[in-house]
Amino acid sequence: MSSVQHSVERLEALLVEQSALRRVATLVAADPDQRTLFDRVCEELGRVLGVDSTDMIRYEQNGTATVVGAWAASGGPSFPVGTSVPVEGDTVTAKLYRSGRPERVDDYTGIGGELAERLRAFGIRSAVGAPIKVAGRLWGAIMAVGGEPYAFAADTEERIARFAELVTAALANADAREQLAASRARIVEAGYEERRRLERDLHDGAQQEFVGAAISLRLAREKWSHSPEAALELVDAAFEQLQAGLRDLRELATGIHPSILTDRGLRPALEALATRSAVPVELGPLPQERLPPEVEATAYFVVAEALTNAAKHAQCERVEVGVRVDDGWAVVEVRDDGVGGADASAGSGLRGMADRVMALGGRLDIESAPGKGTAISARIALRARDRRPPGRDADRPVTGG
Ligand SMILES: Nc1ncnc2c1ncn2[C@@H]1O[C@H](COP(=O)(O)OP(=O)(O)O)[C@@H](O)[C@H]1O
Ligand SMILES: [Mg+2]
Repeated sequence: MSSVQHSVERLEALLVEQSALRRVATLVAADPDQRTLFDRVCEELGRVLGVDSTDMIRYEQNGTATVVGAWAASGGPSFPVGTSVPVEGDTVTAKLYRSGRPERVDDYTGIGGELAERLRAFGIRSAVGAPIKVAGRLWGAIMAVGGEPYAFAADTEERIARFAELVTAALANADAREQLAASRARIVEAGYEERRRLERDLHDGAQQEFVGAAISLRLAREKWSHSPEAALELVDAAFEQLQAGLRDLRELATGIHPSILTDRGLRPALEALATRSAVPVELGPLPQERLPPEVEATAYFVVAEALTNAAKHAQCERVEVGVRVDDGWAVVEVRDDGVGGADASAGSGLRGMADRVMALGGRLDIESAPGKGTAISARIALRARDRRPPGRDADRPVTGG
């Protein structure tokens, strides 16, 4: 074969691969169910490589992998979708699990273990695989298998990896959507929990006082004619109870939503919060203008929780608080000079903070190395249109209207 002929053939192969990748990318954008996507990726890849069969696996927690997509040329060997295989020995599945990188076995003859034996029984003699990663962690792999030893060209790993990247993109979308759904569920649950707490507080606090006042007043009325002195004492007692009940109600109300935030905005509300804080607070720049109410409420919540944490956990000298508006985003920063080691998985406060920020399309970053203090930074989208959930339509252009 002349070298010109050779180049032309390589170019043609590249074009075929590019159009297969484009078809898969189009499918990913249409957000199909996973089974459809996985089978289709296997088919496109199998045809492009001209191999006997391809499959996609997902690694499980228990040392096995599950076949989640598959394609075979007619007569080619194939594991049915749903098959569970052990991750062991020197099979591509196991080597890839250990290295997290593309792997191949050019000849399965003489390779030990249950899986290798099953592969040979299926007529498989060689295999190549590339990893699929989600959020930086190994999720699974795509494999090409052949009925002959040494069935694969040197660049096969690379070519599989290009398809694996598209699957990674699709899974990342789905993963982001799941996380958002989970965080919404937690916010709703936290809402119910808050209402139960309010009901309990009302019942144990103000309600008891008011019931007590009613009883005192009824007794006073009974004693009014024959023992006015005693009646007067009871009226005084009722007065005390009403005062106490009102105090309880007022405390409850400020805990729910400080009126200063609604009436006067974030700056005065944070100034009040700083005054009440158990650790010294240094207020940095704060926005002069009013921000959307849900942004002010979330920013207030972030600062309130961070200050409570600083007082409770940080053993710090002081805390710096600042809020700036930056190109459509409010950025809330709270930094203490304490012991560090804040851990969002250790309590519900930081997770609730992350959920609220995420619900407004933002992100929460926590830097808290031991001994280095804790810095919390929350970015919150000011405009509703910047708060679209990831996934389904994230890649489509925003159209007017
Ligand atoms: N500013 C901080 N400095 C040091 N440790 C912190 C700080 N904030 C949080 N932590 C640690 O992270 C954990 C989780 O915080 P959080 O989710 O607010 O729960 P909680 O405050 O109810 O314990 C805390 O229990 C604490 O150990
Ligand atoms: Mg807390």
